[in-house]
Amino acid sequence: MGQWDVFLSPYKQAVDELKVKLKGMRSQFAINNTNSPVEFVTGRVKPLASIYDKSLQKGLPFEPSDKLATELQDIAGLRIMCQFVDDIATVTELIRQRVDMRVIEEKDYITHSKPSGYRSHHMIIEYPVETIDGQKMVIGEIQIRTLAMNFWASIEHSLNYKYNGAFPKEINDRLQNAAEAAFRLDEEMSQIRSEIQEAQAYFNEYKEDLAVLNNTEKERE
Ligand code: GTP
Ligand code: MG
Repeated sequence: MGQWDVFLSPYKQAVDELKVKLKGMRSQFAINNTNSPVEFVTGRVKPLASIYDKSLQKGLPFEPSDKLATELQDIAGLRIMCQFVDDIATVTELIRQRVDMRVIEEKDYITHSKPSGYRSHHMIIEYPVETIDGQKMVIGEIQIRTLAMNFWASIEHSLNYKYNGAFPKEINDRLQNAAEAAFRLDEEMSQIRSEIQEAQAYFNEYKEDLAVLNNTEKERE
């Protein structure tokens, strides 16, 4: 096994565990028949190529080290997508209350969006992973955002990759407009939130009834 595999293995463990745990929040809300503030969860270990780019940017030696582990806080990355802006505060508070991780820093790019137009709530956490050599503390980043914020960020990220951060003016203007449109979409959805959630609760019940009916049919067959 290479040195990088050894270095990255607790991060992989952390991402796998955290995905299960954060997705668990959604299932628990579903069991309680309440609208979940969590829509879906994704997670990844930062690819080695991105670790290379980032260490170069930060002027750090590209080698597995404690320095890299403390300086690159998003080697373990989790993302929680919400339907509504208000859900973000709910999720953030749920994470603060957890005893299996410790929040060491928060960045609110929602009240203060980035000049790019980027919006999200970031939480840097410390998470203990149990390994065969004992406990290993892993640092990770949880990004919490709405579906609209996520749509914008993923598009901007691809364009950034293509143009290497130097957008032509036309694209830059479009991205600013799109950020504004995403912001307004979130606002509109917030305005009709109770209508939407009533409809979703109704639909979930309907799906449950349908499932019961289907099972009864199958039992008859
Ligand atoms: P990094 O060195 O990039 O981690 O910056 P930082 O330590 O100051 O953290 P910051 O909170 O600014 O950004 C961390 C992560 O947020 C990035 O790796 C991206 O996933 C995301 N992010 C931040 N700014 C932007 C942005 O303008 N556009 C997009 N698409 N994502 C962003
Ligand atoms: Mg960062």
